[in-house]
Amino acid sequence: MQLSPRSPLLLSTLLSSFLFLGACGGGGGSSSGNPSSASASSSSQTSSEASSSSDSSSSSSSEALSLHTLADFPIGVAVSAANEPSSIMQDDEAGVAQRAIIEAHFDQLTAGNIMKMSYLHPAQDTYFFDDADALLDYADDNGISLHAHTLVWHSDYQVPDWMKNFEGDATAWLAMYKEHVETIAGHFAGRVPSWDVVNEAFNEDGTYRNSLFNQKLGTAYIETAFASARQADPQADLYYNDFNISNGGDKFQAMINMVDDFIARDIPIDGVGFQMHVFMDWPSIDAIKSSFAAVAERGLKVKITELDIPINNPYSAGYNYPDNYEATFTDELAAAQKKRYCDIVTAYLDAVPADLRGGLTVWGIRDSDSWLISTLFDNNHEDWPLLFDNNFDPKPALYGVADGLTNQPCL
Ligand code: G3I
Repeated sequence: MQLSPRSPLLLSTLLSSFLFLGACGGGGGSSSGNPSSASASSSSQTSSEASSSSDSSSSSSSEALSLHTLADFPIGVAVSAANEPSSIMQDDEAGVAQRAIIEAHFDQLTAGNIMKMSYLHPAQDTYFFDDADALLDYADDNGISLHAHTLVWHSDYQVPDWMKNFEGDATAWLAMYKEHVETIAGHFAGRVPSWDVVNEAFNEDGTYRNSLFNQKLGTAYIETAFASARQADPQADLYYNDFNISNGGDKFQAMINMVDDFIARDIPIDGVGFQMHVFMDWPSIDAIKSSFAAVAERGLKVKITELDIPINNPYSAGYNYPDNYEATFTDELAAAQKKRYCDIVTAYLDAVPADLRGGLTVWGIRDSDSWLISTLFDNNHEDWPLLFDNNFDPKPALYGVADGLTNQPCL
């Protein structure tokens, strides 16, 4: 992978329990397109609606728009549920507003947290499905599918303590691990169309991450999870999911090598999830298209699983908090972000044949709830990475996605 001196390798320790993001060159907050072009009205209905800017006056046009009806693949969004902050399952203002947005624009949900390991399997002999089942019931009641996330993830926060402290020998570890995957995949079998089976197994240099699972089971933990998931749920599409793989490079190549090996040995895998926590200026659209195409050429599905596009890029030369960063979401930045969303959707349609499009999911509803604010920006300042503003009003970015889905020029 071509990483700049300001690459996220330097920050891998800081974010290792979550995610670390790569970015090359460019100034933070700088646009990947011509900001002025987006304010020019487009011939498309969606673009002309978008040109009204991100203020609340555009919400009425959003009601006329229904994003998911523009695509013949799932259009998803990650949500908080149960009693998490900004849960969609609460009957408070945020819950009601978010459900209205979901039901208008999305036909797939991903649980941002409540289907991770520690939530579903809090003790060795205890599984907890109530919150996930309630979310699934809500989705079912509204004709929405649920992409399940995730069976195996190294993140320290999400590996249950009991698993970290499990003292069995290698045979016992393997049995315990398979039971984890099979019990959870089995519980949801027939109700979810797809799983992120293993999340984030590689380091940036393409070596295997030294996760607990790798330490206990070797790298075979990955194929074991896929085989166990297939056994427990023969119908669901099984994805390998990772970040920083839409830019080519060592990590991307390692993922491709693993996929080729799985295909050669008949290990069940249906697709690759590209998380796509990207930036305005990174990766290039060409790199994104090549990365998608490499997976599609192997006959696997491509799913954009966690898309968000912050305005500030903390890895770029132009970012120097608190001295130099974008502190205001100007119309120009909103327009540039609209174009960037459109360009990425267009790249997806260009590079991935229709039968291999697993869908496109945005990682959150409103800007202020994005994980980026607390984790990447350390709650130092605002950013605006998503499709809806803090009042749940649509941003131009929403219309950028719509333009991309309808093959409109990205302006
Ligand atoms: O629910 C508690 C709340 O009660 C408490 O007051 C608050 C105080 O910190 O914490 C809340 O839990 C937080 C949870 O999100 C729900 O908001 C956790 O601390 C926080 O660590 C957790 O962060 C999530 C992170 O994964 C770790 O699981 C983010 O929301 C979620 O967006 C993020 O998602 C990951 C994907 O799964 C994998 N790819 C990267 C992506 C971003 O890191």
